[in-house]
Amino acid sequence: MSDKTYPPSDAFAKNAHIDAAAYDKMYAASIKDPDAFWSEHAQNLDWIEPFTKVKNASFEMGNVDIRWFEDGVLNVAANCIDRHLKTRGDQTAIIWEPDDLETPALHITYNELHEKVCRMANVLLSQGIMRGDRVVIYLPMIPEAAYAMLACARIGAVHSIVFAGFSPDALANRINNSGAKVVITADEAPRGGRKTALKSNTDAALLHCDDKVRCLVVKHTGGQTTWIDGRDIDVKAQMEHASPDCPARPMNAEDPLFILYTSGSTGQPKGVVHSSAGYLLYAGLTHRYVFDYHDGDVFWCTADVGWVTGHSYIIYGPLANGATTLMFEGVPTYPDASRFWQVCEKHKVNQFYTAPTAIRALMGQGKEFVEKCDLSDLKVLGTVGEPINPEAWNWYNDVVGKGTRPIVDTWWQTETGGHLMTPLPGATPTKPGSCTTPFFGIEPVILDPQTGEEQTETEASGVLCIKSSWPGQMRTVYGDHERFEKTYFSDYKGYYFTGDGCRRDADGYYWITGRVDDVINVSGHRMGTAEVESALVAHADVAEAAVVGYPHDIKGQGIYAYVTLMNGVEPTDELRKDLEKWVRTEIGPIAKPDLIQWAPGLPKTRSGKIMRRILRKIAENDHATLGDTSTLADPSVVDDLIENRMNRK
Ligand code: WT7
Repeated sequence: MSDKTYPPSDAFAKNAHIDAAAYDKMYAASIKDPDAFWSEHAQNLDWIEPFTKVKNASFEMGNVDIRWFEDGVLNVAANCIDRHLKTRGDQTAIIWEPDDLETPALHITYNELHEKVCRMANVLLSQGIMRGDRVVIYLPMIPEAAYAMLACARIGAVHSIVFAGFSPDALANRINNSGAKVVITADEAPRGGRKTALKSNTDAALLHCDDKVRCLVVKHTGGQTTWIDGRDIDVKAQMEHASPDCPARPMNAEDPLFILYTSGSTGQPKGVVHSSAGYLLYAGLTHRYVFDYHDGDVFWCTADVGWVTGHSYIIYGPLANGATTLMFEGVPTYPDASRFWQVCEKHKVNQFYTAPTAIRALMGQGKEFVEKCDLSDLKVLGTVGEPINPEAWNWYNDVVGKGTRPIVDTWWQTETGGHLMTPLPGATPTKPGSCTTPFFGIEPVILDPQTGEEQTETEASGVLCIKSSWPGQMRTVYGDHERFEKTYFSDYKGYYFTGDGCRRDADGYYWITGRVDDVINVSGHRMGTAEVESALVAHADVAEAAVVGYPHDIKGQGIYAYVTLMNGVEPTDELRKDLEKWVRTEIGPIAKPDLIQWAPGLPKTRSGKIMRRILRKIAENDHATLGDTSTLADPSVVDDLIENRMNRK
């Protein structure tokens, strides 16, 4: 093999669900006969009516239709809770670790989870929520977020979680786009010792929504909120009065489980729709195999439930497997940079799953913070969200894993529901920076970006597509199937287009090289450059804006904005601060530009198209090789931008 590789130890492989020989055999079987493979694994779910059909999927433009187990009937919440009660009712389902150190952690058993979810489901029913209705969840990382998700699943409502870091405008947009009848929020979200006023954000959002939208409020911190009688409902109080039983509604396999909004290359985020059975099967199976989860293990995914990682690997995957899953309200650096490792020690975490940006931030604080904690229970380490640079990989391996824990670098997307390419810890020799090889049932292909032709040589690079459907695949864009087809199936006919660039090495290992569309990856969060641009131009002083990504030591990519001001407006530092604040309120703190450059003009073609390639090069401080600039309408614009660039090294 080329590059330095890290094979699994014999001891690990021996006790793992999947070793190298099993991987080869199962992967081959999953591609040769997907129906047989998935039908067998789907037996691990609890079906109310068994399915007779397995896969029924077309990627053909104009006719894209994806179904799995389409005549089966089941309930996702019953699969995550009820079926475990007999064997593990008293086992901890969720460990909740609060933001501050004074509040005690909670251990919520499967029995307790059942009761809370039923009570919350009854509260939703009492609000008139029915099968198929949308419920927006805007909550901190508290157990009620899990109860709310599973309560929706129990009664067949479709949840749509909005990350608590999003602004009132972004929240209103998602409530309106999904046509939600209810939003569930909390008084405040404590994080890193500070509190975000979620209820007042929700109040501001609801000014732009239908009067009929009800607001269920979790009184979490007890902080002061304004209260609108008739609209606002104290959900904990209602839960106490509600019945602790609520039948799980039989749902069709293809009924939508949730909508999750994600950024794309246009200004308006799209509502990614996931199914019930296929999604749950895929989240559960990847959780079990990729982290080599065994009964009794404590699993911790540090993501927020507001992102797909939290959906699949805090809630649905682990609970489908009857696991103990840890939910952490806080941040890695509060009260200090050892918090992650203290939590691992305190709760004897066995599998730990986080993002490269967090690893890089903690790496910068020094290894003392890790070394003072007992991490001997760790068995597997995982990463997700962006390519991990070898320095961070090595630090994770040496300092956190003491060189003996396999690292799984999992590549996937909101759209894919679960991991598509990843090592299996007992099977796959890893290489720092590579997501290695495909999971069962996944057929990655690398296409030539110009011709769309499949690159059949082992060593290849180009755009990454997937050849055929897998159960966890998104089914549509909420309310806009045409956009679904156009975004994912129109550029390369017959394939699912991921939006990522990719290289395959001589060993057949995959290396993600980053997005090839106008999407950037900031601290593992996906941001559409067009979204930030529309926020900027909505400001009265801004005439035009162009946003690109640039390499950032901690965040992976930073947000670089070129802004052309209205005639007569003075470019001042105050205005720059004002614009940063503006974007924070329009979208949320994660969208705040890191660098804003005043641009008297933007480089455009004669037909008026902004040449982003040039802007990217300047932002990357790589302006020596701008490439062909002959199609520019006014080449002098570029000289000014280079002269005044913000990213000078
Ligand atoms: C994009 C998807 C899926 C959960 C988190 C992000 C990038 C994700 C990796 C990885 C290299 C990665 C890709 C992908 N990405 N994981 N292990 N190695 N790149 O979900 O917000 O939907 O973003 O994140 O560019 O397309 P998302």
